[in-house]
Amino acid sequence: MDDTENSAASAAQRSFLSIGLLGFGTVGAHVYRLLQDETLVAARAGVSLRVKKIAVLHPAKARPVEVPPAIFTTDPSEIVASPDVDIVVELIGGLEPAHRLVLEAIERGKAVVTANKQLMATHGPELLGKAETVGVELGFEGSVGGGIPLIKPIRESLAAARIRAVTAILNGTTNYILTRMAAEGWTFEAALTAAQRQGFAEADPREDIEGHDAAAKLAILASAAFGCQVTNDDVYREGIASITPKDIAFAKELGFAIKLLAIARSQDGEIEARVHPALVPLNHPLATVADEFNAVLVDGPGLGPVIFSGRGAGGAPTAVAVVGDLVAIGTRLRLGFRGRPGGVHLVPMRVRPIEEVVLPCYLSLQVIDRPGVFARVASVFGDEQVSIASIVQKSRGAVADVVLVTHDAPERAVRRVLARLREMDVVKAIPTVIRVEATI
Ligand SMILES: NC(=O)c1ccc[n+]([C@@H]2O[C@H](COP(=O)([O-])OP(=O)(O)OC[C@H]3O[C@@H](n4cnc5c(N)ncnc54)[C@H](OP(=O)(O)O)[C@@H]3O)[C@@H](O)[C@H]2O)c1
Repeated sequence: MDDTENSAASAAQRSFLSIGLLGFGTVGAHVYRLLQDETLVAARAGVSLRVKKIAVLHPAKARPVEVPPAIFTTDPSEIVASPDVDIVVELIGGLEPAHRLVLEAIERGKAVVTANKQLMATHGPELLGKAETVGVELGFEGSVGGGIPLIKPIRESLAAARIRAVTAILNGTTNYILTRMAAEGWTFEAALTAAQRQGFAEADPREDIEGHDAAAKLAILASAAFGCQVTNDDVYREGIASITPKDIAFAKELGFAIKLLAIARSQDGEIEARVHPALVPLNHPLATVADEFNAVLVDGPGLGPVIFSGRGAGGAPTAVAVVGDLVAIGTRLRLGFRGRPGGVHLVPMRVRPIEEVVLPCYLSLQVIDRPGVFARVASVFGDEQVSIASIVQKSRGAVADVVLVTHDAPERAVRRVLARLREMDVVKAIPTVIRVEATI
């Protein structure tokens, strides 16, 4: 018997399992609080889950939960190496030292639970591969969507669905901003300030408004949905800072809302993975997801659309997801399984570059307002085989606003159209280009 088998066997014989917490911040403190409720956790897992040690940076800091001071250490490696710890819960965040610590815990045969989206979106394939090799569990339900159950339902409950697409609103900050812009007619800057005042946006909001947060979550969801290796770098990404109240008003007149969508699609053995603003029909289920709420729409043949929604962040809901993973892992350890039978095996799959994606597109143009201009603009689209579904002049004057929506067109062809339009003397500006996501 090797060390990891020994520890699984001994875990199976005990009436409690020992948890080592790495991090005791917003999520960590809520996890600790939930684990103190013996009736809740032990009843579900059939075994008590006891916090043995907690690693923090500042042990003297005031904490929102009362904890025996001796439980703290400033050395997370001590927890990872301890033979007395059965499950390591990583709630430090960021890439390092989280990556090193999680890898070491797995190599030492410990089950790990994390809510770290950056870690899983960057190193998920490596860590899941290692966990599969060693034969231990790695739970990461809390890394996407806070308390909304997504990873296990998508990976396990819908395993037979042959998921075709995951279309989602995965960032509460940007959804709040776009909702307020649409409802109040505010500029992006005014809505961002309101979001910061409400606590929905960080002082430095770039991670959210540039789409990084949503892209990391999409990489994790795409891996779960398609069983393939998708990381941050595979996800095409655009943010929402260039969206104007005018865009939102024009889109609404055409029957669309503007949302920051995260989309993963599987087709012909390849996948698409992209985060960008998109026009969605007003009757689309995601069009009405408002303010800081998140929603994930999963679709597969024979399954039809399935929607998960709720608040996608927050210490308390995320702690529910983390403790849910602990209960599931604790139950299996109690029964003597040290790892998931079968494990999680992610295969490489080609991710289509954005230029190859085929979608309708919305464009707003500012053009010289004189006869013949429409025809000249339209001919560029015709030359590049991009067909126009609708074109409407929105204002008159020396320079007029024109908005148009294309039929399905390869992104590469739309880019050629844009390059040619920018060269035309009658086209003064192309303020907005937004992809249209019409499928449910
Ligand atoms: N907050 C949310 O709503 C939310 C939602 C979903 C997922 N998550 C994810 O959950 C994880 C934790 O987030 P959080 O909001 O709880 O973070 P947080 O409030 O910043 O807490 C981080 C904790 O880690 C400790 N820490 C930092 N570096 C450390 C090190 N080198 N060694 C030991 N301890 C260290 C800190 O110690 P001190 O307390 O002593 O400073 C703190 O207790 C992140 O991956 C985050 O992305 C958070």
